[in-house]
Amino acid sequence: MPEKSHMEPEQILVIDDEQSIRDGCRQALEKLGYTVHEASDGTEGVKIARDVHPALAFVDLKMPVVSGIEVIEILARDIPDIVQVVITGYASVMSAVESLKKGAYDYMPKPFTPDQLRAVAKRALDHRKLTIEARRLREEKREIEQNFITFVSHEMRSPLATIQQYLEALEMTAGACLTQEASDIIDRCHRRIQNLEDLVEHWLDIRRIDNGTFVHERTPLDIVAVLKRSADEMSHLCKIRGIHLETNFSEGLPAITGDAESLLRVFINIIGNATKYTPADGTITVETDSDDHYVIVRISDTGAGIPADKLPFIFEPFYRAGGKENRDRTKGSGLGLTFCSRIMEAHNGKITGDSREGEGATFTLLFPR
Ligand SMILES: Nc1ncnc2c1ncn2[C@@H]1O[C@H](COP(=O)(O)OP(=O)(O)OP(=O)(O)O)[C@@H](O)[C@H]1O
Ligand SMILES: [Mg+2]
Repeated sequence: MPEKSHMEPEQILVIDDEQSIRDGCRQALEKLGYTVHEASDGTEGVKIARDVHPALAFVDLKMPVVSGIEVIEILARDIPDIVQVVITGYASVMSAVESLKKGAYDYMPKPFTPDQLRAVAKRALDHRKLTIEARRLREEKREIEQNFITFVSHEMRSPLATIQQYLEALEMTAGACLTQEASDIIDRCHRRIQNLEDLVEHWLDIRRIDNGTFVHERTPLDIVAVLKRSADEMSHLCKIRGIHLETNFSEGLPAITGDAESLLRVFINIIGNATKYTPADGTITVETDSDDHYVIVRISDTGAGIPADKLPFIFEPFYRAGGKENRDRTKGSGLGLTFCSRIMEAHNGKITGDSREGEGATFTLLFPR
């Protein structure tokens, strides 16, 4: 619903069964240029509110037939951006508290002076303006972010893919005449571009998850089948690096609900991390387990581990704990585990990392049954 122009006077509704209170409010508020509507009971008040969509309503708590509390609940639900102030006698402070819980912004004990009424009205209307402004800014931020996501996916992703293709074409056409040195340079270009592509993909996915546009399926799936696929995909790399990849899957695990493709990427990320930090002849173990509440996946390695003071940060975006040793192999953007934890959250699950420096790392993923 569009905001009313600033030139139009703001509409205030006073719902009170006492004529003298309504008169007093009208006089005091009209002096400030507000348009004031009156209702002598709750039913009439709700009707007028639905008609004129007031910015502010003063609602008496003690009214016959429909109580003030009920009116507050209905208006909070039905009238966009309304702020409500409760008018109450001293005896009903408890119900004033109750009405704040139902959505009223403030309360005003009877009797009150015109100045007090005006001060409360101004404060409530300011509060409403701020709320509307905050929402507008949030929406604007979301839109800018959305545009940036579109920008990154078009302006970075496509050129990167094209460069990869050109490099491949170059290798095909000039392959035989390239010196070893030239081939090495092309290889390095491939790897660096691949890193950049991974970074862009991870970043895009994380943004999509955060703003709710990441589409993922919710189908019953056999987690062991997904783990087997991830282990298959990683087995070649493990072989090259001389790392043993062992699996230990429990029988008869219950199906979980989720998206196989994103979970596959989660497992590949974690096994991929393990291959970076585990030296030749080390072991990566992928195993499953379950208890009354969770299906559990555990991926552990016998590598360098993560220092205790760095462990709390590994799920933060762009955080990388590693030292400088073995730089080529351990390259990364620090987004992999952020991606994993966001995907786990989207599955109502949880991922934790545990490690003793020098003794390897274990990542545990819990999926609710
Ligand atoms: N199995 C592991 N052993 C030792 N350190 C690890 C392990 N897994 C993660 N880490 C540490 O956690 C950091 C964050 O991991 P994350 O996967 O988020 O980023 P990355 O692997 O550096 O980059 P990316 O996954 O984006 O390519 C890593 O840089 C590394 O320091
Ligand atoms: Mg990683």
